[in-house]
Amino acid sequence: MIDVRVPGDKSLTHRALILASLAEGESRLTGLLTGEDPQATRNALRTLGVPIGVLPEDGTELRVSGVGLQGLREPTQLIDCCNSGTTARLLLGVLSSQRLVAALTGDESLRRRPMRRVTEPLSRMGAQFRELGVRGCLPIEVRGSVLRPLEHVSTVSSAQVKGALLLAGLTGGVDVSVVEPVLSRDHTERLLRAMGVGIHSEHTDQGWQVRLSEPPSALPPLDFAVPADFSSAAFFLVLGLLLGGDASVRLVEVGLNPTRTGLLSVLSRMGATVEVDRESDDRCGEPVGTLIPHSGRLQGTEVTAAELPALIDEVPALVALAARAEGVTRITGASELRVKESDRIAALATNLRALGVSVEELPDGLEVEGTDRPLQGEVRSFDDHRIAMAFGVLASLPGNRVRIDDRAVADVSFPGFWRLLDGITSKHGNAGGRGSARSAGQPASGLNRKRGPIITIDGPAGSGKSTTARVVAQRLGFRHLDSGALYRALTCALLEAGIPPDRWPALDRADLDRFAIRLEPRAGNFAVLLGQSVLDAELRTSEVTEHVSQLSGLPAVRSWLLERQRAAGASGQLVAEGRDMGTVVFPDADLKVFLTASLEERARRRLEDRAVPRSGPAGLRDEMQRIEARDDRDRNRPLSPLRAPPGALVIDTTGLKFEEQVESIVRHVLDLTGC
Ligand code: S3P
Repeated sequence: MIDVRVPGDKSLTHRALILASLAEGESRLTGLLTGEDPQATRNALRTLGVPIGVLPEDGTELRVSGVGLQGLREPTQLIDCCNSGTTARLLLGVLSSQRLVAALTGDESLRRRPMRRVTEPLSRMGAQFRELGVRGCLPIEVRGSVLRPLEHVSTVSSAQVKGALLLAGLTGGVDVSVVEPVLSRDHTERLLRAMGVGIHSEHTDQGWQVRLSEPPSALPPLDFAVPADFSSAAFFLVLGLLLGGDASVRLVEVGLNPTRTGLLSVLSRMGATVEVDRESDDRCGEPVGTLIPHSGRLQGTEVTAAELPALIDEVPALVALAARAEGVTRITGASELRVKESDRIAALATNLRALGVSVEELPDGLEVEGTDRPLQGEVRSFDDHRIAMAFGVLASLPGNRVRIDDRAVADVSFPGFWRLLDGITSKHGNAGGRGSARSAGQPASGLNRKRGPIITIDGPAGSGKSTTARVVAQRLGFRHLDSGALYRALTCALLEAGIPPDRWPALDRADLDRFAIRLEPRAGNFAVLLGQSVLDAELRTSEVTEHVSQLSGLPAVRSWLLERQRAAGASGQLVAEGRDMGTVVFPDADLKVFLTASLEERARRRLEDRAVPRSGPAGLRDEMQRIEARDDRDRNRPLSPLRAPPGALVIDTTGLKFEEQVESIVRHVLDLTGC
């Protein structure tokens, strides 16, 4: 059985970032999701003047210094919410009361989604909006105003609407009451309560009422460990139920907020067995636990409107399961699905039909007749992460042959989804698997046999990747590819040829081909050659150090060097180190390692490396700022941004002995090669 911690909860990550930004003092957040949606919230908050650092890929702590309830700054640019409805709607609420003007937009899918459900009640509070494009949709300009209290009865159960209105009341200092037909996810309420804000919730004749009374003038900081996302875990619950044999996965640290776990009741009606082991302590009022799905016979069921809010994001996963259950599953009262990242009712029906599953599309739902025939065909993601992942689960089952047009869209909420899926199904011997596969920290046995092993070691500045890679390579008797040396060699060659840095962006492949830079295997390692000369000390002059990052941001240079890096890996037996080795250069590497360390630790190491004598706390602080700025550039650059590769073995080296970290990597490689 594989223990899996799926990425952090998306809804909670958005809210934790927003509330920490609005607090006074330093909040401490761990387990944040780093998918594209929360990145949009993080970037938006930065544009609004909140100094939020990079979201840590490995779930380690992010500290956020809040700017206060009225402390956001007028942005100088349009705020791009990308694909994220939660970012857009919650921020419309927050911005309604700020003394600023801001404009929000999003990608094509988000620009189609309805915004009046939030701007209409917010306007009644006194907020001012200008729709800049299609009526009722983004882009929208918001002009912050002095707000009035609001009593709102919503016709839809939507946590985004409720959250936006509560956040407007909170920042605008006015009471707000929201009534919704069925209680939608109540994360905003739970986090606010944990921060000491008075929020009352009760069932009334009209539906669920949530009331924010006498909002405080300041919020204290938030200390929150974000649980794993139930909606992401849902795909592996379904997989676990459908894969034959013993329990295949144990999903750990999953958020079990009852407004999110409606799927569990539906699964139990379908005859599924899911063990639920709830932890005794909640996190800021959010329950957490472990889920173990056991495979078995499943039958169709009926799901109606009252159940929908607690499983709204799980419908794609549920429909994938329904396609393999006995009999008919009928879902109604789900018209909200038509205004998600895609029209999910149409998308699910179209894809099921493409696989030969009998399905009827209803105005507000679907009727699916399960089959045990092998599923074959091509499906589309419709630019919707959950559609891609739901059909990914079906594609991974033994006997099925399903092609999905765009798998990358899963990164919106679940970076690393495909690798994890491959890792689990390959352990179950799915003949239709997709080659080498591994889940985080779980080396697979499917080593690439055509060449020797390739190990990648990536990480941010000061994470210790160079020294680690060199020593790991020595221990294994592999060659060490220092990708930075190639960039330095080209910088050196250009400077020597008298080509000034302002002309570098115009260089094309033919210009670069004039420089005979190559890696040559020598004495068990690589030498960097320029013509016939081996470069060594030349690579580390201060002039080269000063200019190398200008060069490494250029697309033509990156693709030119990519060929040389890949050539170096042609026969394997390689430890390749850099910032995009596992994500771009060797995406099919046999072991991908991502090293991290706390900012302070990395700054300390950098100062030690440069032998800066007793730089003191001010020197350390300066170095930390430099590294943070570098991290920001590395993670947000459009080309090959620094990311932990999906399925990477992530090692936080803070407090680890160097030998321990080397040993851990070497052990993984030996496991992998069966030695
Ligand atoms: C979310 C609320 C839900 C959900 C979405 C996340 C949130 O949307 O589908 O993925 O974080 O508030 P609605 O509020 O539109 O139902």
